[in-house]
Amino acid sequence: MEADRDAALHAVSAAVLAVTRHLSVHEVFQVIVRAAAQLLDARYAALGVPDDEGSFAEFVVEGVSDEEWEAIGPLPRQHGLLAVMLREDKVQRLADVRRAPAFEGWPSAHPVLRDFLGVPIRDGDETLGIIFLANRRTPGGFTADDEERLILFAAHAAIALTNARLYERNRELTVIEERARLARELHDAVAQKLFSLRLTAAAALSAPDPAPELERVQTLAKEALAELREVIFELRPAELAGDGLAESLRKHVRVLDRVWGAGRRTAVRFEGEEVPLPPETEAVVFRIAQEALYNALRHGRPREVAVRLTPGVLEIHDDGVGFDTANDARDGLGLASMRERAASVGGTLTIESSGSGTVVRLEVPE
Ligand SMILES: Nc1ncnc2c1ncn2[C@@H]1O[C@H](COP(=O)(O)OP(=O)(O)OP(=O)(O)O)[C@@H](O)[C@H]1O
Ligand SMILES: [Mg+2]
Repeated sequence: MEADRDAALHAVSAAVLAVTRHLSVHEVFQVIVRAAAQLLDARYAALGVPDDEGSFAEFVVEGVSDEEWEAIGPLPRQHGLLAVMLREDKVQRLADVRRAPAFEGWPSAHPVLRDFLGVPIRDGDETLGIIFLANRRTPGGFTADDEERLILFAAHAAIALTNARLYERNRELTVIEERARLARELHDAVAQKLFSLRLTAAAALSAPDPAPELERVQTLAKEALAELREVIFELRPAELAGDGLAESLRKHVRVLDRVWGAGRRTAVRFEGEEVPLPPETEAVVFRIAQEALYNALRHGRPREVAVRLTPGVLEIHDDGVGFDTANDARDGLGLASMRERAASVGGTLTIESSGSGTVVRLEVPE
C-alpha cells in the first residue's frame, strides 16, 4: 500500500515536472502516458487528443515498439469506443474491450487488448483528450481503485497539458510580436530623420543664405530614403521573398489560428490568391495585415477574423466588439503606423467599426 502510494505520487509528479522543465506539448504527452502505465501496471497505454476533423491531433502510445507502430498503420479515426468516450465524456472500465457494444475491431497488426480502462482528460467543459490503459500485468483486470487513481491522475495531466500548451503558445506569440515591434521601432528611426529634415527645411526658409541648410536637407532626405529602404527590405518578412504575399499571409494566419484557436476559440481565416505587387507594397500590405490581425485578436475578442486579399485590396474583418474610430485619442502606434505605411506606397486605409465588428480595408496601387 505504502509502495503503491509512492508510485502514484511519482507518476503525478513526473507529469507535473515535465511541464516545469519546459518540455514541448508532445514530450509532456509522453511523460504522462508512461507515468500512467507505470502507475497502474498496464502493458499498454495511450493518450489521444482529438482534432476538429474526426481524427486525432496527437496520439501517443506506450508499450508498442516503433516497428509495431509502423505496422499498425494510420492514426485511429474517432470511431468505436474512442468516439464514444470523446462524445460521452465518461470513464470506461471493461473486463474485455472486445465485448463492448461500441467495439469495432482494429487493424490486423494492432496488439490484442483485453481489460481496458479509459478516462477523459478534462479542463472545465473541454475534453483535452482521453487516456486509456489496457492489459493490466497482474491478472484480474483493472479495479475500482485503479479507476479512482487514473481519474486523479487525469486531473493532474489536465493541468500539465494546459500549462504546456500555454507555454508553447506564449513562445509562438513572443516571436511574432517581437518581429512586429522591431519593424515599428525601425520605422520610427526613419521618422526621426524626416523630422530633422523638416526642421532643417524650415530653417532654410528663414535663413538669409539658405544654401548650406538646403544641402543639409538634401543629405537628410537621402539618408532617410536609404534607411527607409533598408528597414523595408531587411525587415521584409523573409518568407515574402520566397513564398509571395498570399502564401506568407496564409502561413501567418495559420499560426495565429493555431495559437488563438486553442484556448480562446477565435478562428482566423485567410482567402486570396497571389496578386502581383511591387516588393515595397507587398511588405506594407503584410505589415498592415499583421497589425490589423493583432488589433482584432487583442482588442476585439472576436469569434472569427478573416483576411481577404484580392487584386489591389486587402481586407481584415472581425466580428468582435468594435471601437469608436472617430476617437483619435485612443489611437496607438498601431493605427498610426498602419496609416503611415499605407500612405508611403500611395495606398488608402479605411476602418469601419461598429458594435458587431471591424473592417480594415487597404487599397494599394498595383
Ligand atoms: N479590431 C479592433 N477591435 C476593437 N478595438 C480595436 C480594434 N482595432 C483597434 N482597436 C482599438 O483602437 C485602439 C488603438 O489601436 P492601436 O493599434 O493604434 O494601438 P494598440 O493596439 O492599443 O497598441 P499598439 O501600439 O501596440 O498597436 C486599441 O487600443 C483598441 O482600443
Ligand atoms: Mg495595435
